[in-house]
Amino acid sequence: MNNQLVLVLDFGSQYNQLIARRVRECGVYCEVMRYTISLNEIAAKHPVGIIFTGGPNSVYDQASPHIAKEIFAMDIPILGICYGCQLMAHMLGGVVTTCTTSEYGKTETTYGKSSALFCDDALPEKAISWMSHTDYISEPPAGFTVTAHTESCPVAAMECPEKKLYAVQFHPEVNHTAHGLTMLNHFLQDVCGCTGDWTMENYAKTAIEQIREKVGNGRVLLALSGGVDSSVCAALLSRAVGKNLTCIFVDHGFLRKNEGDEVEAAFAGRDIQFIRINAKAAFMEKLTGVSDPETKRKIIGEEFIRAFECESKKLGTVDFLAQGTIYPDVIESGSGDAAVIKSHHNVGGLPDYVDFQEIIEPLRLLFKDEVHQLGIELGLPEHLVWRQPFPGPGLAIRIIGEITDEKLEILQDADWIFREEIAKAGLDRSIHQYFAVLTDMHSVGVMGDGRTYDYTLALRGVTTTDFMTADFARIPYEVLETVSARIVNEVKHINRVVYDITTKPPATIEWE
Ligand code: XMP
Repeated sequence: MNNQLVLVLDFGSQYNQLIARRVRECGVYCEVMRYTISLNEIAAKHPVGIIFTGGPNSVYDQASPHIAKEIFAMDIPILGICYGCQLMAHMLGGVVTTCTTSEYGKTETTYGKSSALFCDDALPEKAISWMSHTDYISEPPAGFTVTAHTESCPVAAMECPEKKLYAVQFHPEVNHTAHGLTMLNHFLQDVCGCTGDWTMENYAKTAIEQIREKVGNGRVLLALSGGVDSSVCAALLSRAVGKNLTCIFVDHGFLRKNEGDEVEAAFAGRDIQFIRINAKAAFMEKLTGVSDPETKRKIIGEEFIRAFECESKKLGTVDFLAQGTIYPDVIESGSGDAAVIKSHHNVGGLPDYVDFQEIIEPLRLLFKDEVHQLGIELGLPEHLVWRQPFPGPGLAIRIIGEITDEKLEILQDADWIFREEIAKAGLDRSIHQYFAVLTDMHSVGVMGDGRTYDYTLALRGVTTTDFMTADFARIPYEVLETVSARIVNEVKHINRVVYDITTKPPATIEWE
């Protein structure tokens, strides 16, 4: 990449990825690096700016993360946030003190309008910032001016414009800080001289050139699941290497209604080798009589690999195995072993089974929202780009108990209605995952003059940021009412619909 680069030096902040995403939102490419990076490594990357993140430590802790003092003399603009702000003060001779009471949450802050960070007309002199600290700067280092304060924090921001050093005690990256993104933008544009050259249009152009250069006449193999990451990866690779790309799409038969055909429609017409394996019969045969969730998952995982392996063997040696690894995986793995993580999490150890020489990961620099944007840029249909997360084993783990063709059809039809109504209500982007589950419970109902004894269907909708914890979505009763009425009227063998109001934990998002 030849984009201007900003380094986000991570001192242990829970917001490290959020800061990086905000910088990218400003149209600036950035990378998250651990604070242990050497100054030589930093210099070699030629960053136009550096941001120190916050972190849980006190600068006085023996083991607190530090960086060599010479970083302040590299003539690179630096913005310190929270711990990063205190670290800058401490290392340059200011005084950091423990607060008598920690400042936490939304705090009224008074800004000095002559600061490059706070000069924006939209930012009033007094506005809310998000604070979270137990130490504060009681005296700024010599040469620094105080540019913001709160009632209990005398140095909520400080700066030394001659040395291009800026620091804020609050968190501009958090939405609760009014105009926080504007402040970051001013730092990036006015202090660092960023031109906003990071766009998905530029990314696509450069990535395509780089992939072509790397792959040459080699052959690339991609396991296409129809999920956002693998679909965008396929679209990018197809632009770059065309016929040299083979996408294998194992359709295990447990996708949602029409989904297999939609994936095929999006890719089969491209100038690539697209192979769809309709493997439902083989999967169903292996799953006959199986109702234990873990056994189902295991069988599906193994059968998936078998189907993929069988097809890929026909291709002989492959030069590159492509994976849809994205930047959060890279950051979480400590910037290195992303390939290993992904092979375990997403493709169930595929690299062991396929004869290939090298892995390529064309999305490894991108955050999820950028993957969406890139998908749109590459002309993928919206329903693929905005597809919600979907588990590898698909509807097989949303049918409680043994899977049969009849149950699969019932669930596909009911799930379709739920999704249609959620989209109609305009909730499809705000509820992060929503789906129907076919329980194995029967209950008594009445339809017309007759008694029924049919399935209970459960609806699940969650809001979440990371899928590790989740809240149940507050879907309006009117929407639930329409969904329920349509399902019991239009889908045979369902006579009762319930809504799952459990958070995660203690429940998981999926039922199996
Ligand atoms: P749980 O049910 O563990 O799910 O709360 C968390 C998120 O992971 C998805 N999920 C899977 N994704 N393969 C996947 O690629 C799987 O086997 C799998 N199981 C669960 C789930 O849909 C939710 O988004």
